[in-house]
Amino acid sequence: MRNFLTTADFSREELDALIESALRFKHGASTVRPLEGKSVGLVFFNPSLRTRASMQVGIYELGGNAVTLEPGGTSWTLEHRDGAVMDADKTEHLSEFVRVLERYVAAIGVRTFAHLKNWGEERLDPVLGAFARYASKPVLNLESAMHHPCQAMADMMTIRETLGEKKKKVLLTWAYHPKALPMAVPNSFALAAAQFGHDLRIANPAGYDLDSELKTDIERFATAHGGSVELTNDVNSAFDGVEVVYAKSWGSSRHYGNTDADIAEREPYRGNWIVDEAKMARTNDAIFMHCLPVRRNVIVTDGVIDSDRSVVIDEAENRLHVQKAIMASLVK
Ligand code: CP
Repeated sequence: MRNFLTTADFSREELDALIESALRFKHGASTVRPLEGKSVGLVFFNPSLRTRASMQVGIYELGGNAVTLEPGGTSWTLEHRDGAVMDADKTEHLSEFVRVLERYVAAIGVRTFAHLKNWGEERLDPVLGAFARYASKPVLNLESAMHHPCQAMADMMTIRETLGEKKKKVLLTWAYHPKALPMAVPNSFALAAAQFGHDLRIANPAGYDLDSELKTDIERFATAHGGSVELTNDVNSAFDGVEVVYAKSWGSSRHYGNTDADIAEREPYRGNWIVDEAKMARTNDAIFMHCLPVRRNVIVTDGVIDSDRSVVIDEAENRLHVQKAIMASLVK
């Protein structure tokens, strides 16, 4: 038994095998039902369309039953800190929650976003980590403060099925958004792109660098897998010659916990750090990717997201197939 918390815990061979399994599910070549007679717990601290729907459908298609819980909504508010004196608003400790839930289910999926308060603490994924610590059944990360590995796997699958297996020139570009957003998607995309050996360019304004320890991991993986990493603050030349454009906004770790300061810092980038037709024209006929949901005409123009090079709907579909592959490998 293993958890699926970040792609970094898996070898390139294991990740390739998951994508091959996902492609078999997608094309009807695999009809295995490893969840027959079993249930999977889905714990959503935050909203979702794609993750929740694709997990519930995927569990059904693998023969199982999804038990979806929303702490503070359809289940009790949860405390995760060891030794906490629970005299405030939290009703149940994860210690009991997890150990009870796993008496009913074969695996637990968890969505627990960053609170955007303290990067030093949140980068360690304390809530997801507590689930993994208390659980004796597999835990699947459905987006934590630090990682969104199911999204990254769907992204790698989409690149492979659209452009083939050879490494590609891939741009991860920061985009303007009126709010400071979590970093899980860009973190996991960059990590996975490096693990799959792509030539990765990361473009962001000064002050919006990814986590420095994570960047070290990204560079290490890129070197090990025949890829490369290039960093730039130039929003226009970043697009030159790339084959994949992956857009995402994220918050500044410098202003983490101070949303007003981040919003003030990003204001000059409004209307400039957007993926538009002029920037796409600089690419090598790149596909456009985004994890969704996306703010049209803020992150990306209608013309780009509605173009025939946009694969955002395929990416969302591939969440279903890749999560089936992951669950089939976790639950035997
Ligand atoms: N991309 C993604 O995780 O979408 P949801 O937030 O709708 O699940």
